Amino acid sequence: MAETNLQILLKRRPVGAPVPEDFDIVETPIPEPGEGQVLVRARFLSLDPYMRGRMADVKSYAKPVALGAVMEGQTAGEVVASRHAGFAPGDTVLGGFGWQRFSVVGPERLFKVPATDPPLSASLGVLGMPGLTAWTGLEDIGQPKAGETVVVSAASGAVGQVVGQIAKLRGAKVVGVAGGAKKCDFVVKELGFDACLDHHGDLDAQLDAAVPEGIDVYWENVGGKTQAAVFPRLRDFGRMVMCGMIAQYNEAPGADAAGAPPGPNLGPIVRKRLRVQGFIVSDTGWSRYGTFRAEAEGWIRSGKLRWREDVVDGLANAPRAFIGLLKGENFGKLVVRVD
Ligand SMILES: NC(=O)c1ccc[n+]([C@@H]2O[C@H](COP(=O)([O-])OP(=O)(O)OC[C@H]3O[C@@H](n4cnc5c(N)ncnc54)[C@H](OP(=O)(O)O)[C@@H]3O)[C@@H](O)[C@H]2O)c1
Repeated sequence: MAETNLQILLKRRPVGAPVPEDFDIVETPIPEPGEGQVLVRARFLSLDPYMRGRMADVKSYAKPVALGAVMEGQTAGEVVASRHAGFAPGDTVLGGFGWQRFSVVGPERLFKVPATDPPLSASLGVLGMPGLTAWTGLEDIGQPKAGETVVVSAASGAVGQVVGQIAKLRGAKVVGVAGGAKKCDFVVKELGFDACLDHHGDLDAQLDAAVPEGIDVYWENVGGKTQAAVFPRLRDFGRMVMCGMIAQYNEAPGADAAGAPPGPNLGPIVRKRLRVQGFIVSDTGWSRYGTFRAEAEGWIRSGKLRWREDVVDGLANAPRAFIGLLKGENFGKLVVRVD
């Protein structure tokens, strides 16, 4: 039987947490690359929190996925046909598109990457968009210095694990926040953070003990009650890197979270001369991808940068895995092994 393209489409816009019925799984013919384009067979699909935003029809920095369209996402795989002089069949690449087995893409943001060393899936995590996010956000906003104290939420996740390790390399004391003892153990024992606090426990008491000196850089991945506990502890001239607030992604836009704690009093931003800045990795990140990748690969080779992946088998399992990501069920960078 001829091979087909397996695709996962957005069937309807979720209200609250996504459910499997929000997605459709279909088989379609394999697309043909046009002039200047490349056909990529996905080996790994990256699942990332931003995809929840693309499922909602709200004004944002990127357009929503249309109903009936392929779910947006980045893949790493191999070129199977090319009508672009820079790519040949057999090349392994980062930059395929969508929750699908085959995609036709242009050369923009298509990067040749090694097939095995480091493993291809690393190009979606530690050496991909999440790693690039950590690196650019620390370079541009967090700027941790030796002796400073850095706190990072969702510390065992794709972005958080890289943030903490780079901050350690810069000489900072690094404290993670993660959900549960297993994740915290990994963050301290495998990644070398100085401490890790479990947000299912009493975060205030744990912060009192772990960072009595206060916090110079807070890397915000989560929002909600973690933000409420950490924010008041920022020191004068502290920096708060607003990377994401996953705890709030399933809420209706503009709605108050039911049962959420009141937001922090923002008055201290003035009094403490804090810098609170948001950023999107695509603003400037991809134009610096080569610099980031060279530095990160050097750290990997010398054993200074480690990572953990959570690999789910089979493209059809992507919806279930993505739903779990928004509840903290992943442990490490979530990727789908497509076939
Ligand atoms: N600004 C940018 O350009 C950019 C780029 C990439 C990612 N991001 C943001 O960075 C953050 C982390 O992304 P990632 O890819 O590294 O994901 P991730 O950390 O690998 O996975 C998400 C983690 O968030 C935590 N979480 C999920 N739901 C939560 C909830 N309701 N309350 C509290 N914690 C919850 C869970 O960790 P625990 O079990 O430890 O709580 C979960 O494992 C997200 O906010 C994402 O949107 C931003």
